[in-house]
Amino acid sequence: MTDLLIRAAVAVRENAHAPFSKFKVGAAVQDDSGRIFTGCNVENATYGLTVCAERVAIFKAISEGARRFTRVAVVADTDTLTPPCGACRQILWEFCGDVELVMANLQGKSETLRLGTLFPRAFDASFL
Ligand code: THU
Repeated sequence: MTDLLIRAAVAVRENAHAPFSKFKVGAAVQDDSGRIFTGCNVENATYGLTVCAERVAIFKAISEGARRFTRVAVVADTDTLTPPCGACRQILWEFCGDVELVMANLQGKSETLRLGTLFPRAFDASFL
């Protein structure tokens, strides 16, 4: 697996705090200067306060000053590639728009598509 972004997501997945679901996810986003920001899911005993890997990654990036994103990677250990949840699609759309999204698993399977394919007719600032 040579794709740096996928490798970053695979690596950060190991840091997932997922004692309740045991479902570890890693995410990585790349900005237009090539910087990579990573995130893993962080669960909570209340369940509802759990934050997905994608949101951790994008919020880390935003808080570090990154603004324009070229690619997002999501990695989980599933045969059927794991897509971002609905809440994460909304957050990714907010900051990344119709970005290239790659879903991958630990066996080296991957699929690349655009976020708009997963999230058509998004609500965003253009409506406000
Ligand atoms: N999860 C993510 O981190 N990203 C996704 O795209 C799907 C779900 C996490 C949330 C929770 O910790 C666990 O996976 C099971 O839902």
